[in-house]
Amino acid sequence: MIKMAVMGFGVVGSGTVELFYKNRQKIEKSAGSELDIKYILDIRKFPDSPFADKIIDNVDLIVNDDEVKVVAETMGGVEPAYTFTKRCLENGKSVVTSNKELVAEKGAELLELARQKNVNYFFEASVGGAIPIIRPLHRCLAANDITEVYGILNGTTNFILTRMFEDGMAFEDALALAQKLGYAEKDPTADVEGHDACRKICILASLVFGKHVYPKYVSAKGISSISKEDVEAAAALGCQIKLIGCVKRLEDGKIIPFVSPMLVPDSNPISSVSDVFNAVTVISDGADRSMFYGRGAGKLPTASAVVADMIEAAKHDRTVFSQHWEDSENGDFIADFDAYECKMMVRSNGGVQVLERAVIAEHNETVEAMKADGAEIYSAIPVLE
Ligand code: HSE
Repeated sequence: MIKMAVMGFGVVGSGTVELFYKNRQKIEKSAGSELDIKYILDIRKFPDSPFADKIIDNVDLIVNDDEVKVVAETMGGVEPAYTFTKRCLENGKSVVTSNKELVAEKGAELLELARQKNVNYFFEASVGGAIPIIRPLHRCLAANDITEVYGILNGTTNFILTRMFEDGMAFEDALALAQKLGYAEKDPTADVEGHDACRKICILASLVFGKHVYPKYVSAKGISSISKEDVEAAAALGCQIKLIGCVKRLEDGKIIPFVSPMLVPDSNPISSVSDVFNAVTVISDGADRSMFYGRGAGKLPTASAVVADMIEAAKHDRTVFSQHWEDSENGDFIADFDAYECKMMVRSNGGVQVLERAVIAEHNETVEAMKADGAEIYSAIPVLE
């Protein structure tokens, strides 16, 4: 019998416990051993929960219990999740997480610690919710030279943009609806301003290109400035507007990671990904173009990835070395967003025009020149090719 613990009994943590007990028989068969959740850590009390007898508020009980081999961290945020994760890894427990903020900030360090301790640190649930993307990138596509990964990495903003396109809603009304339906947080800044998608593209970029990409080196713009008029202009050009997280390798070997609203032509399958769904496209030399699609957020979809990692961690008592990347002191392997090449839609008092393919720096100069000529610029949005 392998004993496990869950740290954080919020939406994802409670979904993890629920899904584990719902499908326990099948999960144990898949893991090849009997499994149970011994502790659930949370500072809140849940007297009416069917799992009330497992709930504790002292992490020491988990850290010091030799019976516990696998810990799921579903707390979110850097602290105290970072300290708790380190203590679990140091004491020889594998940790699985849905915490993208922690992986984006401390992934290299925690993966190295796991390697030293011969345990695993898994994070499938940190990007794309239920979508299998971490394991496919480092295992199923391992034979390939991957040159680009891009996609819709945030469910809340995709829901908002879908409502703006399909129902003609204004950004503020679509955001209010997302909050009413429980998709967006009360403080929606991390979703709406692109910080959540930025953390996710940092994780994918680190995994694919082998060096830790810190969020501070990544240009991230959200969707709060997207207007109904932008949506109408994009539609007239046969495009949707999507919040795209992208990382692309340039010919000089540097990579450009960024998050930006982009026009996505209707011919690109990403354009038809709507509501809270996410999708990730991977471009590589052997497999060519692969697309991964599914529910990017929510209780059971995210729990699906957490529990799968728990099974994997229970099955492997040795570190899976391939899931690892180097730390990076500086961002010298990262090129500025200014160097990204694309077309650009510019909307001004003179109408809508699409600037020919050029680097962002050149587009910015064109826009500045238009302003100097007296044009009023309403928006300038890159086009995904
Ligand atoms: N707030 C995130 C989203 C949750 O909307 O995608 C999943 O990471």
